[in-house]
Amino acid sequence: MASSLASFLLPLLLTVAASAQQIGTTTPERHPPLTTYKCSVAGGCQALNTSVVIDSSTRWLHSISTPSQGCNVGSAPCDTAEACAANCALEGVDYSLQGIQTTGDALKLNQWRQDNTTGKWQTVSPRTYLLSPTGDTYENITLLNAELTFDVDLSNLPCGMNGALYLSEMELDGGITASKGLNKAGAPYGTGYCDAQCPSLPFINGAANTAKLGACCNEMDIWEANALATAYTPHPCMAERIRTCDNDVDCGQPKGYCDKWGCSFNAYQQGYHDFYGRGKQVDTNKKFTVVTQFVSSNNRTDGKLVDIRRLYIQDGKVIQNVQAKVGGGSVLADSVTDPYCNATATWTQERGGIAHMGEALARGMVLIFSLWADDGGYMTWLDSGNSGPCNATEGNPAEIVQHTPDASVTFSNIRWGEIGSTFKA
Ligand SMILES: *[C@@H]1O[C@H](CO)[C@@H](O)[C@H](O)[C@H]1NC(C)=O
Ligand SMILES: *[C@@H]1O[C@H](CO)[C@@H](O)[C@H](O)[C@H]1NC(C)=O
Ligand SMILES: *[C@@H]1O[C@H](CO)[C@@H](O)[C@H](O)[C@H]1NC(C)=O
Ligand SMILES: *[C@@H]1O[C@H](CO)[C@@H](O)[C@H](O)[C@H]1NC(C)=O
Ligand SMILES: *[C@@H]1O[C@H](CO)[C@@H](O)[C@H](O)[C@H]1NC(C)=O
Ligand SMILES: *[C@@H]1O[C@H](CO)[C@@H](O)[C@H](O)[C@H]1NC(C)=O
Repeated sequence: MASSLASFLLPLLLTVAASAQQIGTTTPERHPPLTTYKCSVAGGCQALNTSVVIDSSTRWLHSISTPSQGCNVGSAPCDTAEACAANCALEGVDYSLQGIQTTGDALKLNQWRQDNTTGKWQTVSPRTYLLSPTGDTYENITLLNAELTFDVDLSNLPCGMNGALYLSEMELDGGITASKGLNKAGAPYGTGYCDAQCPSLPFINGAANTAKLGACCNEMDIWEANALATAYTPHPCMAERIRTCDNDVDCGQPKGYCDKWGCSFNAYQQGYHDFYGRGKQVDTNKKFTVVTQFVSSNNRTDGKLVDIRRLYIQDGKVIQNVQAKVGGGSVLADSVTDPYCNATATWTQERGGIAHMGEALARGMVLIFSLWADDGGYMTWLDSGNSGPCNATEGNPAEIVQHTPDASVTFSNIRWGEIGSTFKA
């Protein structure tokens, strides 16, 4: 089913520019503060003074000896990983120019920014990572036998947009240790991205990727959505943190190291066209709460992930997920389980199924917030055809910017902890 290919396009939007290396001194890096909450059943929710950092590829990477000269991987002074580490520096970012705004516990992302001299709308499409309260490393999010809950306002996110909240198994230090001295910037500069699409990025763990390898790692898409459609999707890889390889086959797995398609749950695709959307049961014209629970086989963190459950809360009312009928009617599932993936996503089962996803969730993953539009595919896998009510062309970013240049998503009140600790029924 083409529409179950879920978020396989997620990383393709990346502005491929530069990343990593030493730290420049032209623009100071000031991470927008974002309060988040860690919860337990006994102790309630405690505020954390966390912050967000934008991905390193957005930054200006330049020569240290000639600061006006940019560094591009593959050409001098960045022709080898060692030369790049010695000769190039990564700058801080003015977050107000990148479509990123935080207030208290809310993070607002904008897809476009209006240039204040030309009046033109420029794509910013931010991708940000949650930093720990010290600001030195990414926050270590462990969700096996736990839940993550947030409020979302995507009332101004039309067809073709994707406001995403997800996890990747990046190195928590941004790759400083793994790069063996080639990356001095690390998590405070947003280095070390990877995901289950094995994107070939200019830098991997902050070291120049002159061999054009892919950065593969486990990815859990908790939330990919606009006002018309939504999906959640585990994308397990074969194990480990980041694995690099130049194509799927060379990753040591004939069918690919990571599950690029994932095992996706989308209510519309399951035949429920009145469940999620504007004025629907989960009414996307207003803010609502999304709960995602990662249930283990023994209700402990040393168990196996067996169920990824979803609840919505709006106007104080808990809304259960819909019941999918899959496997020719033989499997009923209102969540992502092994039987559900077995019936809908053999590719996920071939890579260890959700149990492998659970191992990554137990080791700890990085929380990512991004907003993007899809130049090549118009995001039809998420919201068109079998997946949603949007038509095949209205997701064209060139169209979206005409009618909704201020397209944005706001995530707020982000909290995680023991099952049952993050919300009241
Ligand atoms: C978080 O920041 C607030 C305001 O600056 C401060 O009052 C509070 O003590 C900080 N919390 C922690 C746990 O450091
Ligand atoms: C335009 O934006 C720049 C960068 O934020 C700012 O320094 C400048 O003051 C702005 N100009 C006007 C006219 O708003
Ligand atoms: C785990 O907890 C759930 C909910 O409390 C319960 O239904 C289930 O039986 C428990 N599973 C095990 C293996 O203890
Ligand atoms: C997986 O699906 C196949 C049919 O497609 C079925 O024969 C098998 O029993 C299922 N396995 C599990 C563990 O559900
Ligand atoms: C992240 O937290 C988990 C669970 O507490 C722990 O096992 C793991 O070592 C932590 N990761 C790092 C890199 O500290
Ligand atoms: C798709 O939807 C847009 C917005 O409603 C509309 O302008 C356009 O004509 C539609 N295209 C097709 C092929 O139906």
